Amino acid sequence: MKPKQVLLVTGSSGLIGSEVCGFFAQLGFDIHGVDNNQRAVFFGPAGDTRWNQRRLEQSLPAFHHHELDIRDRAGVGRLLAELRPTAIVHAAAQPSHDRAADIPFDDFDVNAVGTLNLLVAARQHCPESPFVYLSTNKVYGDRPNTIKLKELATRWDYDDPAYAHGISENFSIDQSKHSLFGASKAAADILAQEYGRYFNLPTCCLRGGCLTGPNHSGVELHGFLSYLVKCNVEQKEYRIFGYKGKQVRDNIHAEDVARFIHAFISAPRAGEVYNLGGGRDNSCSLLEAFTLAQEFTGHPQKYTYLDQARAGDHICYYSDLRKMQAHYPQWSITKSLRQTVKEIVEAWHRRQTPS
Ligand SMILES: NC(=O)c1ccc[n+]([C@@H]2O[C@H](COP(=O)([O-])OP(=O)(O)OC[C@H]3O[C@@H](n4cnc5c(N)ncnc54)[C@H](O)[C@@H]3O)[C@@H](O)[C@H]2O)c1
Repeated sequence: MKPKQVLLVTGSSGLIGSEVCGFFAQLGFDIHGVDNNQRAVFFGPAGDTRWNQRRLEQSLPAFHHHELDIRDRAGVGRLLAELRPTAIVHAAAQPSHDRAADIPFDDFDVNAVGTLNLLVAARQHCPESPFVYLSTNKVYGDRPNTIKLKELATRWDYDDPAYAHGISENFSIDQSKHSLFGASKAAADILAQEYGRYFNLPTCCLRGGCLTGPNHSGVELHGFLSYLVKCNVEQKEYRIFGYKGKQVRDNIHAEDVARFIHAFISAPRAGEVYNLGGGRDNSCSLLEAFTLAQEFTGHPQKYTYLDQARAGDHICYYSDLRKMQAHYPQWSITKSLRQTVKEIVEAWHRRQTPS
């Protein structure tokens, strides 16, 4: 009999980690999740992810939770030595660029050093195993804001044919304002690339746009679509920070992220980088997201407008998905933005009235 495939997922109680756990459990993998609910430390009770850990423990017989901080270098080493996983998906992070400014050491220790802890242990104990790192489009800093833009009725858009398909992996990450979060994630991104290029580990960096879905514990500082929909459902005020509410994000459902991760793990390459988002088709501005949420809740969005944009925030960002599709032609986006918003609305209703 073939030995069972073992997947190690860090940040397993978070949006992406939990989706990946469910996806690979269905494929027959043994799933080992690492999470210490650090999101509740970063964002307070609204960021608590224990509910999601319990959901995985109750619904997935093949799921094993490890209460481990990825900053615990010896602990990470021991776990990888014991498991020697077939593949690693690293999704644990301090994920907010605004929060990072207040906690620079925690941010860097989790995002950069935590990633290095995992890479070193992976090289030592399972160098053949694909290693997928969830990076971010914030590695490009605010440089996307230098692209010529046009203002449309409800959104900004690129006014340069070079970006008709969005931002590609060749975009410079240098000499722009990243936020401390963008800097710590860029450090980890380069480390993951280096473990591929220098040590030939099958690593990849997925530079996420807005990764979203029903299992996000969205808060004002992270998880914009989940949080926006939550405000709409609860009829609470959403705060727009600058750019007339026309700032554009590209949104990808966590399930489509998990499907790409599966494609990569099935046919890994070394030291690759992919921009992973919803692309132009699944992009929306805040104003457009309000309208979409209203379609499913019936409530117009309550909001206030603040003139000051967030430092380093993108005015318009959508990912060029062509490299992902060229390398993995069987992969494509399957969940439309409407479908995703519908699922998020339903999830917030469920979470407000647990059975
Ligand atoms: N959601 C997005 O829009 C988005 C966009 C771009 C990139 N990303 C990246 O994708 C990854 C996953 O994001 P997400 O939205 O699922 O985040 P999330 O906050 O929902 O999940 C991250 C999980 O990691 C855990 N964690 C944090 N620090 C930890 C530590 N030191 N040790 C163990 N566990 C720890 C948290 O408790 C949380 O459950 C992150 O690396 C993030 O930077 C996310």
